[in-house]
Amino acid sequence: MNIWNRPLPIMSAPMAGATTPELAAAVSNAGGLGFLAAGYLSVPAMAAEVAAYQGLTDAPVAINLFTPQTDRSMELGSRLDAYRAGLVPTAAKYGVEPGDPAFDDDTFDHKVAWLLEHPVHAVTFTFGPVPPRTVIALQEVGTSVGFTVTSAHEAQQAVALGADFVVAQGSEAGGHRGTWNVSDVPNELGAAALTTAAVAASGLPVVAAGGVSGPEDVATLLAAGAVAVSVGTLFLACQESKAPAAHKQALTSREFSESVVTRAFSGRSARALVNDFVREHDGEAPSAYPNVHHMTKPIRTAAAAAGDPQAMALWAGAGHDAASDSDVGELVNRLAPPE
Ligand SMILES: Cc1cc2nc3c(=O)[nH]c(=O)nc-3n(C[C@H](O)[C@H](O)[C@H](O)COP(=O)(O)O)c2cc1C
Repeated sequence: MNIWNRPLPIMSAPMAGATTPELAAAVSNAGGLGFLAAGYLSVPAMAAEVAAYQGLTDAPVAINLFTPQTDRSMELGSRLDAYRAGLVPTAAKYGVEPGDPAFDDDTFDHKVAWLLEHPVHAVTFTFGPVPPRTVIALQEVGTSVGFTVTSAHEAQQAVALGADFVVAQGSEAGGHRGTWNVSDVPNELGAAALTTAAVAASGLPVVAAGGVSGPEDVATLLAAGAVAVSVGTLFLACQESKAPAAHKQALTSREFSESVVTRAFSGRSARALVNDFVREHDGEAPSAYPNVHHMTKPIRTAAAAAGDPQAMALWAGAGHDAASDSDVGELVNRLAPPE
């Protein structure tokens, strides 16, 4: 079974903190392919999500992992301290303190070890390279390996690592930009231009992602050379998504009109709706991920619990105005090109 023989060329994007097995399975059962997101999950939680997905669909299993970063807190320590101090008044509004700027690798090696013991059909890596031996080991157990890329250069790097395919993530994409270097300022290449560039640079199958707001965007990305189109934000407000209620409400109410790319929430560039947190803290955050993510987490969690969208990371792509709580299967069919 491979991931390319799907009836429809629509994938739901892996979205850590929003994807559920139910969402991914609903996409797959509608004829597309739902990607699971292992980011921020423990190994047992990831295993449970794979099992739950397999209980809901016979479709292939595809899962995304965050590539571990280098801990930059040694060089950026004083800037982390300054950013933390700047967060204190915002945190106080929600009755919490900023978290410690801890570094972790998201238990990456353990996740890979589990995936080698329990092979799935496809694994993608986001945020940069992995050792070539990891790519080979996964391929040897029958797994297709992809990398999220944001430039033609990264697409070439993926080829050099032995990738089977790439996910070309354009500048319109919601959530984290998949730039391979955390300190890079992400380029402005949109998904269509990047797809064409990635096809030319890699010669590999390219999945296009970023900013899809309807079937016309899907058609444009397929015409640009994509074999499939990965859609994130449009699925965020669906019932099966585990995005916090206030995030869903912020999307569907159209209360927030603008999205920007900011490091304010996590230390990594990511596209979010502009709220008070972005207005107050954008531009100050050092490029240290996940250190900044851990610092802002108590604030984001408290705001979500209070149902207050103004200090939450309201991840959203440029097509966020089209998000609704529609039925997942209907959405997949609406996005798919006519026969
Ligand atoms: C809430 C949210 C979480 C995301 N989490 C991940 C993730 O875990 N891994 C990943 O590769 N991309 C992640 N992304 C990016 C998506 O995979 C994809 O590139 C993006 O959603 C496509 O753009 P769109 O949202 O405009 O459709 C996330 C995006 C959102 C909106």
